[in-house]
Amino acid sequence: MVNVRFIPFLLLVALHKIKLVSPASDGRFAFEGFTSANLKLDGAAMVTPTGLLALTNDKHTKGHAFFRAPLLFHVPANGMTVASFSTTFAFAIISEHTQLSDHGLAFVVAPSSNLSAATGAQYMGLLNISDNGKASNHILAIELDTVLSPEFHDIDSNHIGIDVNNLQSVKSHTAGYYEEGTGKFLNLTLMSRKAMQVWVDYNGQAMELNVTLAPLGVEKPTEPLLSTALNLSKIVTGTSYVGFSSATGLSIAYHYILGWSFSLNGAAPVLNSSNLPALPRLPHQKRSLTEILVIVLPLATAGFIVALLTVVFMFVRRWLRHAELHEDWEVEFGPHRYSYKDLFHATEGFVSKQLLGIGGFGRVYKGILPRSNLEIAVKRVSHDSKQGMKEFIAEIVSMGRLRHKNLVQLLGYCRRKGELLLVYDYMSNGSLDKHLYDRNRPVLRWNIRFHIIKGIASGLLYLHEDWEQVVVHRDIKASNVLLDSEMNGCLGDFGLAKLYDHGTNPRTTRVVGTMGYLSPELLRIGKASPGTDVFAFGIFLLEVTCGRRPLELDQVVLLDWVLEHWNRGAILETVDPRLCGEYIAEEARLVLKLGLLCSQPMPNARPNMRQVLQYLDGTVAVPEMTVTNLDYSSLMFVQNEGFDSYVMLDASSFATSIGPGSDLSGGR
Ligand SMILES: *[C@@H]1O[C@H](CO)[C@@H](O)[C@H](O)[C@H]1NC(C)=O
Ligand SMILES: *[C@@H]1O[C@H](CO)[C@@H](O)[C@H](O)[C@H]1NC(C)=O
Ligand SMILES: *[C@@H]1O[C@H](CO)[C@@H](O)[C@H](O)[C@H]1NC(C)=O
Ligand SMILES: *[C@@H]1O[C@H](CO)[C@@H](O)[C@H](O)[C@H]1NC(C)=O
Ligand SMILES: *[C@@H]1O[C@H](CO)[C@@H](O)[C@H](O)[C@H]1NC(C)=O
Ligand SMILES: *[C@@H]1O[C@H](CO)[C@@H](O)[C@H](O)[C@H]1NC(C)=O
Repeated sequence: MVNVRFIPFLLLVALHKIKLVSPASDGRFAFEGFTSANLKLDGAAMVTPTGLLALTNDKHTKGHAFFRAPLLFHVPANGMTVASFSTTFAFAIISEHTQLSDHGLAFVVAPSSNLSAATGAQYMGLLNISDNGKASNHILAIELDTVLSPEFHDIDSNHIGIDVNNLQSVKSHTAGYYEEGTGKFLNLTLMSRKAMQVWVDYNGQAMELNVTLAPLGVEKPTEPLLSTALNLSKIVTGTSYVGFSSATGLSIAYHYILGWSFSLNGAAPVLNSSNLPALPRLPHQKRSLTEILVIVLPLATAGFIVALLTVVFMFVRRWLRHAELHEDWEVEFGPHRYSYKDLFHATEGFVSKQLLGIGGFGRVYKGILPRSNLEIAVKRVSHDSKQGMKEFIAEIVSMGRLRHKNLVQLLGYCRRKGELLLVYDYMSNGSLDKHLYDRNRPVLRWNIRFHIIKGIASGLLYLHEDWEQVVVHRDIKASNVLLDSEMNGCLGDFGLAKLYDHGTNPRTTRVVGTMGYLSPELLRIGKASPGTDVFAFGIFLLEVTCGRRPLELDQVVLLDWVLEHWNRGAILETVDPRLCGEYIAEEARLVLKLGLLCSQPMPNARPNMRQVLQYLDGTVAVPEMTVTNLDYSSLMFVQNEGFDSYVMLDASSFATSIGPGSDLSGGR
């Protein structure tokens, strides 16, 4: 008996891309959280799933975030006069060590949003050793510096400075603020891990620049921390970019911006501190239940014990309900880790009305994250293996960095006992197979099908060739293609199949994929490669064009059926009859031919994804096929037992039960 476990398959998620709300380009904008902010990010900078702008996340890094549109700083009527401007932002510096952080962050006005030539560390990603101090820099920066750098004559390791083309500040002051009413100066510690707010105001007429600091939630103090006369005419160029720059040196520090507003010729819009995203919980802030009991119990007098036990009981119950697995190695993935509690609330406790589908890997729920109101899809994957979990999470997190318009964005994860939760963007139009096969839905028009096909091809090319490492999807099929609100096709679930690799004995390779899409060499040697993806993509092309599943219930193998029509010279008869002839024959012929080309049994005969895209774009003609006489179907004899089932089969036991001599690709 062939050892094959079928898991019924229905999949899956609907996900959509967040629309970017582009603020008015009249030089006025406000972001309370950056989930929908139109920023140009580089270096380590990123927006966390909760909406924080994280400029750095490690040691020896730098990061920049600029408002994408340049702003007009010179008032044309007034010659050289620089417009008045006003900006405010909330920030927090969270460093690995409580007593040490480096180096800091800065608000910056610069002629370009590309500061990649600048150095990190004490140069804060603003300048470098050769251009520091030069008038040609045209850089104005307000630095929040947590390191005393003697070469720049820093006053201390906790100051705010005004920098003009030079990291040696024009003026600087120890961080703090003048209390309203009393005028008393109160110190603040920049690296205190507490959120604070900065205001920068420039009056173009009076040529005066003020910088003010206060703890987040405290009204803007009337008396600024720094005030200086400054003629910006020669410094700020006519059109300039505004944003943030940050750098770290020897120690790990997270430089976060929580919210930011800006206005030319007017006061910056007020930030409402209750709308800003929360700062992440630090590893050291987590206390285990026993630690808490050790602290709390001795303090309790006898009279309070009953009440206390009730509280503890409720706490334990709540704790158990939301219990997660945390391990030391997860600290580095901190920003990508969601709390179970948040996901629980987002999905209303994983109620069935939030269920989007049940797939090969688990159930998928729709949710809305508290605070950011971000629509998400949460996939619950049951997984008991501890082995390889670190590597798998590392991979998942690194895949979260994959950014392509045709890939469903992975936002993060959460781990519980025996279970992994993956958080994705929500895609509003659901999965492609529903549109193809659900008779209650309108027929998917040809131009949309063709558009989806091209999108998936370019997403797959990105995975195979354009990223820093080759990512093999392993499970390409219509039900893994999700459609956003504009019917763009996005590939979901990439890399997930690998979960089963990491958890198993490396000597028994498991074949993961879906019946009907598995290439012969994958069944034979169990090794996934870009070529096995191309094979599945070929089947996918046939599926989308013909509107038929790869393995129909009546045992018809789609590939054989199309091939047979091709051999008869009647390929267009296979096009989905639901289209009622409304399609572009040339395009359909191209796609079908390409489908056959991609799903050839010999891996070397298949094109790669770059070629596929060229064929689809029409920049290169599809080669004439020489394989018409090959018997494609022999490879299907095991597959057609499973119809559209999800498969995980143990290749070693599979090979022995079939017999080592059986060649699945070369005909019978
Ligand atoms: C940024 O500038 C550097 C040179 O300073 C250049 O190599 C790089 O391509 C630029 N990047 C972008 C995105 O323009
Ligand atoms: C310093 O930055 C400038 C651009 O501002 C760049 O042209 C130059 O190559 C950089 N120098 C070094 C040593 O990196
Ligand atoms: C505030 O900081 C300054 C400079 O570090 C220090 O001299 C002063 O003692 C501090 N004041 C308070 C109240 O902590
Ligand atoms: C700077 O602060 C001073 C003192 O509060 C105030 O009089 C002045 O108007 C401020 N200037 C700007 C540009 O905000
Ligand atoms: C500001 O600088 C510009 C350019 O150097 C100069 O033309 C102008 O007179 C200066 N304004 C004042 C008030 O000094
Ligand atoms: C700030 O936001 C909260 C919640 O959105 C709202 O209740 C409150 O009225 C806002 N405050 C101001 C001053 O707008």
